[in-house]
Amino acid sequence: MKKSILKAFAENGILADPEAVDAISQSSEAMKCVDVILRDENRPLVLTKSDVDNYLTCEPKMRPLAQTKPVIKEGEVPSLELASSRGAEKGEDIKILKDITGESTCVGNVIDFAKLFNDRFSALKKILVRRRELSGLATIAKAKKVRRDIKFIGIVNDVRTTKNGHTMLDLEDEEDKIQVLLMKGSKSIDTFVKDEVVGVVGSFSKDGEIVVAKEIVRPEVPMNSGMTPNGSDSIVAFVSDIHVGSAEFLGKEWDRFISWLNKDPVAKDVRYIVVPGDLVDGIGIYPDQEDELVIEDVYAQYTELARLMKGIPERIKIVMMPGNHDAVRLAEPQPALPESITKMFDARTRFVGNPCYMEIEGRTILAYHGRSMDDFISGIHALSYNDPAEIMREMLRRRHMAPIYGERTAIAPEQKDYLVIDQVPNIFVTGHVHACAVAEYRGIKLINASAWQSQTSFQRMHNQIPDPAKVPMVNLGTGEVWVEDFSS
Ligand SMILES: [Fe+2]
Repeated sequence: MKKSILKAFAENGILADPEAVDAISQSSEAMKCVDVILRDENRPLVLTKSDVDNYLTCEPKMRPLAQTKPVIKEGEVPSLELASSRGAEKGEDIKILKDITGESTCVGNVIDFAKLFNDRFSALKKILVRRRELSGLATIAKAKKVRRDIKFIGIVNDVRTTKNGHTMLDLEDEEDKIQVLLMKGSKSIDTFVKDEVVGVVGSFSKDGEIVVAKEIVRPEVPMNSGMTPNGSDSIVAFVSDIHVGSAEFLGKEWDRFISWLNKDPVAKDVRYIVVPGDLVDGIGIYPDQEDELVIEDVYAQYTELARLMKGIPERIKIVMMPGNHDAVRLAEPQPALPESITKMFDARTRFVGNPCYMEIEGRTILAYHGRSMDDFISGIHALSYNDPAEIMREMLRRRHMAPIYGERTAIAPEQKDYLVIDQVPNIFVTGHVHACAVAEYRGIKLINASAWQSQTSFQRMHNQIPDPAKVPMVNLGTGEVWVEDFSS
C-alpha cells in the first residue's frame, strides 16, 4: 500500500513525510485519500502528517481504522490529531471544541490588541507557509534585501485605488512594512479587506520602491469531497435569529414549526437544534427599536423564549449562542449568556459562545452569528445581503470570520484570535442577515439559518429583505441538506 501511495505522489510531484504516508496507509480508504489530495489544487508543497489528518477530518470514512476514541474534556481545544480520530457515534453527545466562554483574558489595552493581531498573523501564516505557491518565502525585511522575485506574507493595513485605477496594498509582518501594487485588470482586485492576511508572489519595481504582485495567495480551505456517509440517521436543524420580544416575531410560523417537530415522520430523526444567535430582540439595539417591541424587558424576552423552547420535543438537544441582539458583550468573540439567563432553560440546552466549534456525532460544525457580514458587504462591492453563502466563502478563503477591524463588528482584544478558522469544518452555519441559504464550498456545507422575524423598519431602511420561517436541516449521516418551510 505504501508503495502505491508513494508512486502516486511521485508521479504528481508531491513530497510527503514518512509519517504522512503511514497515516494514509492506515486509513480505511487510503487510495481515496490520495485521490482527494491529488485533486486539491491548494495542497501543501510538502505533505505532513498534520495535513493528512486535516484531509481525514473532512473525510470521516477515511479515518484510521485502528484509532480509538480519546477522552476530551468539555471546553478543551483538541489538536487536529484528536479531532480527526473521533469517529461518528449515534447518540454521542455534543462536544464543544472551541469557544471563548470562561477563557477571556482581555483587559482592552493596546498591548492586548497587538497580541491579538500577532496571534492572527502567526495562525494564518502557519496555513500559508504550506502553500506550494509560497515555497521559499521570506520575511518582508529579507525580501527588501534580496530585491528580485520575492514571496512573503503580510497583514493588510490599507487598501486603496491609485489615480490610474491600480490597487495598492500596504502590508505588514512582525517587523517591517511594504507596498504592493496590483495592476488594473488583475484577478481578485476588488476583494481585499483590511486586516486580512495574504501571501504575495511578486517582484520589485524598477525604482525598488514597491512590489508589483504577480499572484496573491489566500490561506484557503483544502478541497474535499464532502461528508462521506457515516451510518448516523440523526438530523440537525439550524434555527437562527428568533428575535423574541419583537412585534415582528412570527408566532404563527413558530407554532407551525413546533407542531411539525412533534408530529411529522421526518422530524422524528431531528435530534439536535443549533441556534446561531439573536435569540431575543434585546433592547436599545437600533434607533427607535422600542416602538417595535412587544416585550420591553430583556429578561422577560428570555423568559418567553424559554417558554417557546419547551414546545420542542424533549429528545432534541439544543445549542444556543448569542448574537448582536443578545444580553452579553457585543465585542466578538462573545461568551455564552450569563447564568441569570441560562437558568431559565431546561438541562438539554447547552449555551456556547459566538463563534463556536462543536462536534456532533463526528461532524465538525462551525457556528458564527455573522455580524461581520455587514463589514464584508461594505468592503466588497460584489457581496450583498441576498447571498450570505458567498460572504461565507470569502470568510473561508481568508480562514477568518471577521478580519476587518474598526467598522461595525466590535472585536475584543483577546490574546488569541478566536475568529481564525483554524480547523476545516464539515458544516459552517451563520445567521444575522435573516436570509435562508444552503450551499457548498470545497466540500463544506454552508448554511445561513433564516429568522423568525418579518422585516423591521431598520431592515427596510437598509433594503434588507428577510426570508423568515425556514429551517435548514442536515442529515449528519448522509450529509444531505434541505430546507423545511414554515412560512405559509
Ligand atoms: Fe438578527
